[in-house]
Amino acid sequence: MKNILITGGAGFIGSNIALKLLQREKNVTVLDNLSPQIHGNNPEVTSPLYKSILNKVNFIKGTVTSKEDWINAIKDQDAIIHLAAETGTGQSMYEIQKYVDVNIGGTALMLDILANHSHQIKKIIIASSRAIYGEGKYKCAKHGIIYPSERKDTAMAKGDFSCKCPICDDTVIILPTTEDSKIHPTSVYGITKQNQEQLVLTVCKSLGIAAVGYRYQNVYGPGQSLSNPYTGILSIFSTRIKNGNLINIFEDGKETRDFVYIDDVAEATILGLENDEANNQVYNVGTGVATNVITVAETLSKFYNIEVPIQISGNYRLGDIRHNFADISKIKSEIGFDPKWNFENGIQQFTKWVNEQEIPKDKYELSIKEMKNKGLYK
Ligand SMILES: NC(=O)c1ccc[n+]([C@@H]2O[C@H](COP(=O)([O-])OP(=O)(O)OC[C@H]3O[C@@H](n4cnc5c(N)ncnc54)[C@H](O)[C@@H]3O)[C@@H](O)[C@H]2O)c1
Ligand SMILES: [Zn+2]
Repeated sequence: MKNILITGGAGFIGSNIALKLLQREKNVTVLDNLSPQIHGNNPEVTSPLYKSILNKVNFIKGTVTSKEDWINAIKDQDAIIHLAAETGTGQSMYEIQKYVDVNIGGTALMLDILANHSHQIKKIIIASSRAIYGEGKYKCAKHGIIYPSERKDTAMAKGDFSCKCPICDDTVIILPTTEDSKIHPTSVYGITKQNQEQLVLTVCKSLGIAAVGYRYQNVYGPGQSLSNPYTGILSIFSTRIKNGNLINIFEDGKETRDFVYIDDVAEATILGLENDEANNQVYNVGTGVATNVITVAETLSKFYNIEVPIQISGNYRLGDIRHNFADISKIKSEIGFDPKWNFENGIQQFTKWVNEQEIPKDKYELSIKEMKNKGLYK
């Protein structure tokens, strides 16, 4: 496969994959609408990600919601890496139609064209997300594997942030999320990712096109949008630390996420493109390591070499999940993915990059105020 189309290829993950594919002598075409929310109003100046691929790939400015743009982009391609999407979890709860149109609608349109027009596409990679798992997989001492639903406001108000067994209400133990875990997204964004994955895997089978679904965890690294909702905490804390401000940690600080470095994510994605073993499979892409929020604050502070007070406030946001980390044994054993970057090393690269950027204005207090107004912050 020589000619690769990356939709959303001007974005964080896509631009990194594009540069790696170029190193491997592939011809890369990018279809991207340079969404102002991600790239600013003047991408040639305001988007380092777009600049990193400019004049290196065949760039088509267009949208995945346009049939004409798809037909133009698919011409002569051997494979599609479909990343273009609206990605704001919070935003998806009040811009529902937009999220459904771009994410589900764009994917449906791609498949429609492949089903009804001549083409030479042999493989499609679809970007799914850990968001489809909602709260993830847990174990109850009495009831075995269970999938907790949303935590109760009344319990959290008393400082109890743990997840409970839906049968007996006992506290439960977190397990790594395997690919066969229950799919129960808690946001419109998560629902669209689940649908995109299902559409691609189901339709490609009938079209004789190989498909691979990637459930990315929290992807971070140099070049990330400082408003990326998955890793917003890295930029929010960075801004606080660099302005010498106190960090307010939600809940008890022991809530965790699986942070996976951008380089590893790009490698994992390309492994699936090159490897037939991956065909018609879905994979978690993470590190398999749960990192708690206190560790995030301390690691950032260490690499910026700035000490700020860290306050564990017991504040919380309704709808937040408590934990999620991936079981990555499937991708390891089937296509040999092994993350090379641990959190310390990745954060060291991330802070180096942030140090070269202008310090953004600290909008933290403002965002708390907004959440309070919406009744989401306690
Ligand atoms: N970054 C993460 O932590 C993470 C985690 C899980 C899943 N994902 C998924 O990975 C994919 C890439 O994410 P990312 O972090 O690189 O996001 P990103 O926002 O940096 O990149 C997305 C790109 O898609 C483009 N785009 C948006 N709407 C478009 C449209 N209608 N037509 C064409 N292009 C459009 C944007 O301009 C942007 O360049 C997304 O599908 C996202 O859901 C990301
Ligand atoms: Zn139980």
